[in-house]
Amino acid sequence: MAKMWAGRTSGVTDSIADDFNSSLRFDHRMYRQDITGSMAHAAMLGEQGIISRQEADRLIGGLEGILRDLDSGALDFDPSCEDIHMFVEQVLTERLGDVGKKLHTARSRNDQVALDIRLYLRQEIDEISALTRELLKTVVDKAEEYKDAIMPGYTHLQRAQPVTFGHYLMAYAMMLQRDLGRLADCRRRMNLSPIGCCALAGTTYPTDREMEAAALGFDGVCLNSMDGVSDRDFALELLSALSVEMMHLSRFSEEIILWCSWEFGFVELSDAFTTGSSIMPQKKNADMAELVRGKTGRVYGELMALLTTMKGLPLAYNKDMQEDKEGLFDGCDTVKMCLRVFTGMVATLRARRENMLAAAQKGFINATDLADYLVGKGLPFRSAYKISGELVAWCIAHGQVLETLPLEVYREHCELFDEGLYEAIDLRRCVALRTSQGGTSVSSVEAQIASMRQFLNE
Ligand code: ARG
Repeated sequence: MAKMWAGRTSGVTDSIADDFNSSLRFDHRMYRQDITGSMAHAAMLGEQGIISRQEADRLIGGLEGILRDLDSGALDFDPSCEDIHMFVEQVLTERLGDVGKKLHTARSRNDQVALDIRLYLRQEIDEISALTRELLKTVVDKAEEYKDAIMPGYTHLQRAQPVTFGHYLMAYAMMLQRDLGRLADCRRRMNLSPIGCCALAGTTYPTDREMEAAALGFDGVCLNSMDGVSDRDFALELLSALSVEMMHLSRFSEEIILWCSWEFGFVELSDAFTTGSSIMPQKKNADMAELVRGKTGRVYGELMALLTTMKGLPLAYNKDMQEDKEGLFDGCDTVKMCLRVFTGMVATLRARRENMLAAAQKGFINATDLADYLVGKGLPFRSAYKISGELVAWCIAHGQVLETLPLEVYREHCELFDEGLYEAIDLRRCVALRTSQGGTSVSSVEAQIASMRQFLNE
């Protein structure tokens, strides 16, 4: 069968070329957006007298019927169609006759596809934002539960200073909050309508682009028709925001995997979010976290692929751009799946407070506080730091810890030590005193939680 665009050529194409060219097998996902956009277009054409009102009504009625039949499954996609836009127009014309052929007045598939993607991604952003908020809330609830659970904080993966698990979790809450901000920024820039840019140069018909944009919930229109049909930076921005969010989930995953190991033993995942080994009966693996970490690479890949596709394209539309959709769909699907499973995993994880505290007691992580104690006695920090370090070395050499080291030994290193030092290096006190804004004390963590809850309620 000849193509709808037959004319300049016979419209008869090689079947291998057809398969290669067709995007229907993936862009059929946008049927709702395509039909909704066409309804708004028909209404605008009727309003402006470009077609009659009766014709506009018939087109809208026909489009409603197609939407209903696709939703119910009464209508199947015809794999011989080049894309979702051609498919909808073909069915409309089969059903309505010649009036169906009027729908494509004052537009082109170039502005149509740009419109459909924006409508589709806008919806995806809303879903991903809702899922991110849910995860954020879950993390904040966990932080509340463990705001006083002492654990070692690390730098270079070496035990550094005592923190609370609640403080640790709130660090991830802050990242998720910024992820939401990036999604919102991206949505704001994306929410301009390209429809009416037509093939690239605009049109001679008296269209009303603002009206069509408003009907579709856009904040305005793309002001340059060549830009409107050829820009995909809104899609790149989304993939980049998703990549950053996945990077956060991946770091969090890595920590959970470490914390679940026997070496750490800080966290126990619910059985519902772990798997066993087919050969080693003792295993309880954090597969969900590993998969989230693994899928991060895939989302980065989608970003790199689209950046590379776009980098050398002259204005305006080029068929290369058809390659944008699969990566976008996959990126959004992947992030949504990861967020759902991550929220369940975090909601059901249990921290092992005893193990966290025991680890905190082993790594000399109060050595800074010991130095600060000497500073309180009048020593300059550098000298205090040196004495504290020598005491740590002494403890390591003699298999001792600072908490139980006799006062005589302390005094051999520095005359300024007295009984008060034991209170100064008590882990609970080390945490409790870090009341600086954003610090790890219970009161500082409570303040972080309160501000995040306020954000979540807005
Ligand atoms: N299927 C195409 C895409 O996804 C639609 C636009 C095609 N326009 C064209 N002039 N061939 O990009």
